[in-house]
Amino acid sequence: MSAPLSFEGKVVLVTGAGGGLGKEYALAFSERGASVVVNDLGGDIKGGGKSSAAADKVVEEIRAKGGKAVASYDSVEDGEKLIQTALDAFGRIDIVINNAGILRDRSFARTSDMDWDLIHRVHLKGSFKVTRAAWNHMKNQKFGRIIMTSSAAGIYGNFGQANYSAAKLGLLGLANTLAIEGQKYNIHCNTIAPTAGSRLTETVMPPNLVESLKAEYVAPLVLWLCHEQCEESGGLFEVGAGWIGKLRWERSQGHIIRHKNQNMSPEAVRDQWDSICDFSDATKPATIQESLQTLVDVLSKLESDEGVSANQTSSMATATVGSGINPAEAVGQKLPETTFTFTHVQCVLYALGVGMSTKDPDYLRFLFEGHQDFSCLPTFGVIPSQSAMMDGGLSSLPGINIDFTQVLHGEHYLELYRPLPTSGKLTSQATVADVLDKGSGAVILLDVNTYSGEELVCYNQWSVFVVGAGGFGGKRTSEKAKALLPPPNRAPDAVVIDATTRDQAALYRLSGDWNPLHIDPSFAAMGGFKAPILHGLCSFGFAARHVLKHYANNDPSRFKAIKVRFVKPVMPGQSLQTEMWKEGNRIHIQCKVKETDAVVLSGAYVDLHAAPEDSPKDLIQGGALESDLVFAEIGHRIKDLGPELVKKVGAVFGWEITKDGKTAAKWTIDLKSDSGALHKGPCSGKADVTFTVSDKDFMEVVQGKLNPQKAFFAGKLRATGNIMMSQKLEVILKDYAKL
Ligand code: NAI
Repeated sequence: MSAPLSFEGKVVLVTGAGGGLGKEYALAFSERGASVVVNDLGGDIKGGGKSSAAADKVVEEIRAKGGKAVASYDSVEDGEKLIQTALDAFGRIDIVINNAGILRDRSFARTSDMDWDLIHRVHLKGSFKVTRAAWNHMKNQKFGRIIMTSSAAGIYGNFGQANYSAAKLGLLGLANTLAIEGQKYNIHCNTIAPTAGSRLTETVMPPNLVESLKAEYVAPLVLWLCHEQCEESGGLFEVGAGWIGKLRWERSQGHIIRHKNQNMSPEAVRDQWDSICDFSDATKPATIQESLQTLVDVLSKLESDEGVSANQTSSMATATVGSGINPAEAVGQKLPETTFTFTHVQCVLYALGVGMSTKDPDYLRFLFEGHQDFSCLPTFGVIPSQSAMMDGGLSSLPGINIDFTQVLHGEHYLELYRPLPTSGKLTSQATVADVLDKGSGAVILLDVNTYSGEELVCYNQWSVFVVGAGGFGGKRTSEKAKALLPPPNRAPDAVVIDATTRDQAALYRLSGDWNPLHIDPSFAAMGGFKAPILHGLCSFGFAARHVLKHYANNDPSRFKAIKVRFVKPVMPGQSLQTEMWKEGNRIHIQCKVKETDAVVLSGAYVDLHAAPEDSPKDLIQGGALESDLVFAEIGHRIKDLGPELVKKVGAVFGWEITKDGKTAAKWTIDLKSDSGALHKGPCSGKADVTFTVSDKDFMEVVQGKLNPQKAFFAGKLRATGNIMMSQKLEVILKDYAKL
């Protein structure tokens, strides 16, 4: 069983905690170690009167049980005072439960200004004032949990509660925005709509129901939402009687009523009313960006419908909205072959597009066609394949009926089989490798092979995410997808910071990605962006360039492959910070925007070909080693059983094999990352344990003639690092006696 949830060290303010739900929360938090500010004005249910008794009694009860609590008698309308009480008594504020409430029920026509104002002052303004007073403390300490108390009356409406319903749903709007603004400070804000027997509900519920719907059936949700382990933010929950359910918005597919260059009429709305309100295939937009995106899509559909008659337009719009994916039909489909003809101009333009600069000592190699080693940057390999993607028309394929305005570039993999030529004609062949159902969207894996004549030059895998196209009952993962890998759990080995220019996207697009999102402010605004954003593949090119320079001396022939996930947009002019971890010939990378610390490329890595100085021939002197055979065999075993071995062993072993007292070979057996690997050469990262042993003694150990412990004590086998890990060696060395 996992550990109980503790609130030790946390300071909680519960407003309206003199009775009902608030009292239950205060007791529950204090039982789990929190220091609690018990706030209650001690008035009647309509907001009249005042007494310190309510809060005092709860404080006494907590203290009698050994808990820590202080009382606060101020109204939530004086939010600062409540927070000051927490700071004075306990020095901080971590959790705010906005719970205080009153009722002034009246049928709508009889609702007075006073009825309206009082309800809004206590519920909505009170929660605002208390939360605002706590906000900066939470922000500074990078932790905060806030609960807003809404009500089913707000969500669904309730006779006689116009004032209360309005204020209660206002709290949801407040919470939605606080969840967004709090996100980067680890401040979470959630809303509950509880039902429990209390003095507020005893006037409307039968006594036995008041009795059965206990406040203690609500408190556990509040505690979980406020715990540091809980990731939830911006959620709305109905809770009562021991049941908890989450609510979200649902939106019909809707219908485009307007037609290009025509007026929009109420009659058209009337005529399409059924389809406007048809909730079959409803979507569940969760952000304002998703909401805006729909309007952007509508505008672009209308724009492209010039010359199409009104009837055709509406049916086209409905057809794309009701999109569908059929993996059985789509997988294996090929796009028409594309041809990409280029000269040094495209190579140089691309290099400038991904930030290559005359500031780099090696710039001539990439920017001057007259240089003796003039080369293409390896990531230029995406460009011919991109033309396959764009010209080939994914939309023409059977089984892929998607809304192209919803397409995002999620991940990318590029592998080169030889350095790219600097001019010529390349042909690309794209195939749908797989289609995945991620629920909220679909992922299309598009494999593109690019050839120069007959020779395969490079391979790209585009992971195309189609928002809203999931839920067709397909599989979630594919063995064909090139895996992302997390960076090692240590500080990066190297960091490069490189500023993009204000015109970076304007320059990069000249390499062939003409999406106006990267140049036109009004188009970007419709997509929910403040300004045009940089192409993901431009940041990708920056990061690859950083690795190439730092670890491969700007030698394109060392570049083998790169994989990235695009996480967040970068704005032109921001600085990219590439963090790098070397693990053998694999360089793990993570790219951030320096100014905001936001990760923009994750799970990424570049694979390099070994440098000539690492190559085995330089290490082995005096003829072949017997141990080479064993390592070759270990290499095969890792290929066959890699993931299983990684699971069992979870360590990196370094080996130094000596002959005639000199190091004759170095090997690294990596059974920690990915699906395991063997490589000849020293361990670039940190081996868990490194063994030094002569070729002869190594063979005796693996053949079972020499006991490793004895070899160790006799000084024949030296081990540095985590010696305990040597016990796991058996898993890889056993069964070699037969060799
Ligand atoms: P309750 O009446 O037992 O508790 C509310 C507490 O807030 C009272 O102790 C009252 O003195 C205090 N209070 C009122 N005005 C205040 C102010 N200006 N400053 C500080 N304290 C003040 O009621 P209950 O049922 O425990 O309600 C708690 C919250 O849950 C309220 O916000 C209510 O609207 C909400 N709610 C309750 C439901 C239920 O079924 N009990 C249903 C839906 C919402």
